[in-house]
Amino acid sequence: MRNSVHISLLAAVLAAFCIMPLYAGNAAPEPAWLLENPEKIPALLASGELAFEEVPNPHWQENSCAACHQGEVEAGGAVAPLRNENINEMCANCHDPSMVAEYIHAVDMSPPDDFMGRMPDEFKKSIEQAGGVVSCVACHDLPIQCLSRGGIAPKRFNPFFFRGGPYNSRTDLCFKCHDPMSYQRKNPHDQITDEGDLNTEACFYCHETTPNRTKSRDIYDVSFNINESLEKLCTGCHPYKPHPGGVWFSSRGSTAGGGANHLVMPPDDFLQQIIKTRKQYDIVIPLEPETGRIFCATCHNPHERGVQYLAPADKGADGYKRLRRTHICSVCHDM
Ligand code: HEC
Ligand code: HEC
Ligand code: HEC
Ligand code: HEC
Ligand code: HEC
Ligand code: HEC
Ligand code: HEC
Ligand code: HEC
Repeated sequence: MRNSVHISLLAAVLAAFCIMPLYAGNAAPEPAWLLENPEKIPALLASGELAFEEVPNPHWQENSCAACHQGEVEAGGAVAPLRNENINEMCANCHDPSMVAEYIHAVDMSPPDDFMGRMPDEFKKSIEQAGGVVSCVACHDLPIQCLSRGGIAPKRFNPFFFRGGPYNSRTDLCFKCHDPMSYQRKNPHDQITDEGDLNTEACFYCHETTPNRTKSRDIYDVSFNINESLEKLCTGCHPYKPHPGGVWFSSRGSTAGGGANHLVMPPDDFLQQIIKTRKQYDIVIPLEPETGRIFCATCHNPHERGVQYLAPADKGADGYKRLRRTHICSVCHDM
């Protein structure tokens, strides 16, 4: 005990002498120092001294416990005090809360009674732990990545350390709290009512105004809620991880096939191929109007079958994975 106190004191003194002066100047901060001083990260990011990609990843690492814990912690221990009382703030040292809210899930709201009734005990506990509200640890069960439960193996099966995971489908996690029935009603691809009428409400998830189906000839004839980065129409509900060019990221941990970044502007030879295959297969392959980039709806048709009057634009609607063509890769790649 005495020894370890001495060692950490010594380490602190050494750190103060050897590392601190290093970036009183302009040198990039060392990952090891950042992991011991995560509270300094937001200011370094704001001042530009640190780039986003340089924030060290403490998860599933042996020597990064201090990024979240105070003092000495041992794998397998029963308790381990955290650096911050407010867990969201602790995560926010490295994860910009505004970005997390945009892509994944908001925090700080108190679950309505029916949510509490539905939740398994460990979810309820996580809400209590955060003072009655949803926090990052409601869904991310950090002790899984503390290497305190079964070593590194869970990393493969549950890489995002989901509470109660791994899950076969992301919505299985959602339904720990949300009512599957009302969640279904939030399906923006449900665009025609049971009576066969157009559900114009649904158009506003993505379109600024209800498109005129008789007059629209292509993507240039409709307007969207946003102009750039049209993938944001989708990523709020479908976060985009290593996809596509491989299987959709699943909690089973498989990212086989790699994750080529497809949200790019196709080079000339690809554009020629697209023009050719559009005709050949009688389909639309829309590109983002502002930038000419590939985006989600280049490959996926987000509409319900029958919404589009033009036959090529209707293809893929409600089909397998909403793909505009079964062999979607061959639309652009010679294969
Ligand atoms: C990214 C943040 C983070 C990192 C890094 C981290 N932990 Fe944790 N750890 C937590 C949180 C959050 C809890 C849950 C605390 C609670 O429930 O009160 C926790 C809990 C624990 C517990 C309590 C036992 C349990 O299963 O709940 C131990 C022991 C522990 N961590 C050890 C470690 C060790 C050892 C390391 C380094 C190998 C480490 N942690 C790295 C965030 C982290
Ligand atoms: C010291 C900085 C740091 C802290 C503190 C931190 N993270 Fe991370 N986290 C990272 C980095 C860096 C990555 C990797 C990001 C990437 O590759 O895009 C990451 C990745 C993740 C991932 C994705 C899984 C993975 O391994 O890529 C989740 C989920 C996550 N963090 C949740 C949390 C939560 C919840 C907290 C608070 C309890 C937290 N993090 C605290 C830096 C941090
Ligand atoms: C209601 C559940 C929920 C809450 C609350 C939540 N997350 Fe997540 N988080 C998820 C899901 C689901 C994913 C996986 C997205 C995917 O499939 O790519 C995720 C993914 C992540 C990732 C990886 C994102 C990426 O693109 O690599 C990070 C980092 C992360 N969460 C951090 C946080 C932080 C920090 C908080 C608290 C501010 C938080 N999460 C709160 C459900 C949640
Ligand atoms: C730990 C519980 C919990 C989990 C798990 C969870 N949510 Fe939530 N979510 C909430 C709470 C609480 C609210 C706020 C509800 C309210 O105030 O009516 C909310 C609100 C939302 C909203 C805001 C719009 C609305 O009113 O419905 C969306 C969208 C949402 N969640 C999607 C998801 C998705 C997608 C998942 C799965 C990846 C998920 N949630 C998992 C607790 C959870
Ligand atoms: C989930 C997002 C989303 C929803 C909801 C949505 N759209 Fe679209 N819509 C798009 C995207 C992206 C495009 C451009 C790609 C394309 O042409 O299909 C588009 C294009 C169109 C086009 C032009 C298609 C063409 O190529 O000729 C029409 C017409 C249209 N939408 C009508 C509707 C109507 C009517 C609704 C409501 C019932 C609706 N959309 C709901 C995303 C959506
Ligand atoms: C408000 C949430 C929401 C938004 C926004 C949204 N979706 Fe969906 N999406 C869903 C739900 C819920 C389902 C499952 C029900 C279904 O298959 O009809 C789904 C299903 C899908 C599927 C089929 C998944 C499968 O396994 O078969 C694809 C592909 C898809 N969406 C693509 C998109 C694209 C592309 C966009 C943007 C243009 C988009 N979605 C926008 C909620 C959303
Ligand atoms: C280059 C074509 C392409 C682009 C661009 C693309 N996808 Fe996909 N997507 C696919 C293919 C192919 C599959 C089916 C993989 C399979 O068979 O499992 C798929 C599957 C999916 C699924 C179903 C996931 C599941 O559980 O099976 C969703 C949801 C989805 N994509 C959403 C998106 C979103 C959101 C974007 C934009 C950020 C996007 N896709 C961009 C080709 C594409
Ligand atoms: C809409 C057109 C389009 C579709 C559809 C498409 N790709 Fe691509 N793909 C591209 C473009 C453009 C690039 C980037 C080429 C470059 O920069 O030279 C690319 C790059 C790749 C790469 C990176 C390696 C390389 O050749 O540079 C792989 C792997 C890949 N795609 C696989 C697939 C698979 C698998 C599918 C089907 C699921 C698919 N693509 C569907 C357009 C597409």
